[in-house]
Amino acid sequence: IRHLLSGADLDADTATQILDTAAEMAAVSGREVKKLPALRGRTVVNLFYEDSTRTRISFEAAAKRLSADVINFSAKGSSVAKGESLKDTALTLQAMGADAVVVRHPASGAPHRLADWVDGSVVNAGDGTHEHPTQALLDAYTMRSRLGRLAGLSVAVVGDVLHSRVARSNVLLLSTLGAKVTLVGPPTLIPLDIAAALAPGTDVCYDLDAVLPSADVVMMLRVQRERMGDSYFPSAREYARRYGLDGSRMARLPEHAIVMHPGPMNRGMEITPEVADSPRSTIVEQVANGVSVRMAVLYLLLGGNNR
Ligand code: CP
Repeated sequence: IRHLLSGADLDADTATQILDTAAEMAAVSGREVKKLPALRGRTVVNLFYEDSTRTRISFEAAAKRLSADVINFSAKGSSVAKGESLKDTALTLQAMGADAVVVRHPASGAPHRLADWVDGSVVNAGDGTHEHPTQALLDAYTMRSRLGRLAGLSVAVVGDVLHSRVARSNVLLLSTLGAKVTLVGPPTLIPLDIAAALAPGTDVCYDLDAVLPSADVVMMLRVQRERMGDSYFPSAREYARRYGLDGSRMARLPEHAIVMHPGPMNRGMEITPEVADSPRSTIVEQVANGVSVRMAVLYLLLGGNNR
């Protein structure tokens, strides 16, 4: 594949190839000298129109570990503030010789538009409420390394599904890889048609307590108050009571089950500190795995030294 824009871009073989390559990259990350020469002479641009901690830093670390040159572009402080369009910004980056553009943008579909304008590869690092495919890949990688497989796993994705690009990409990718996804949350935060539209076989349940005893993975989502505008939302206390994961709910999970969160977290709302910091939590592991997975994505898109 030339671009990575959506979880739907990946068939099972390609997704598995990325996860297997990420496992090889993890070995590099564990070495004293963490660098490979694979992308020497290539330029990766991080084009971020929205805030990010994990994704931006891990793409930068990934590109540097592969010896690529990295240009970090943040809309704040750039000519975007003077009204420059995404297209003109893209053409400027193209003129500077970008081989890959990693883009985060508040508008759903912006990475797809960008892919029409630049010659290099485009990686979607999160577009609006639409998709975040490398997050889904690092989540799948984490599940596979903790539980040994993806096929047949029961994965509960819990919370603000309506605004979650992480949920969309996970449903697409996990379904491709044979996991069973159940979307859980208040009816106001789960669009009625989402499960069928995303991947047939995805279930919806409004009762968190009902899904816990049979879940292999519980993925808690951040409640995205900043995307809700004036729409109705229950109080934080009411949300936590019905859909928050606390110690007593975690105790209802099977012994082997893991708890995930893409971050950033609202501690005390969708997840309590007791759960987030427990041995079942893979939250820090997900961040570490993100570097290996993004190394694999850049390596495979840019073709290593063989392009
Ligand atoms: N999970 C995730 O995308 O985090 P950031 O917004 O910090 O990149």
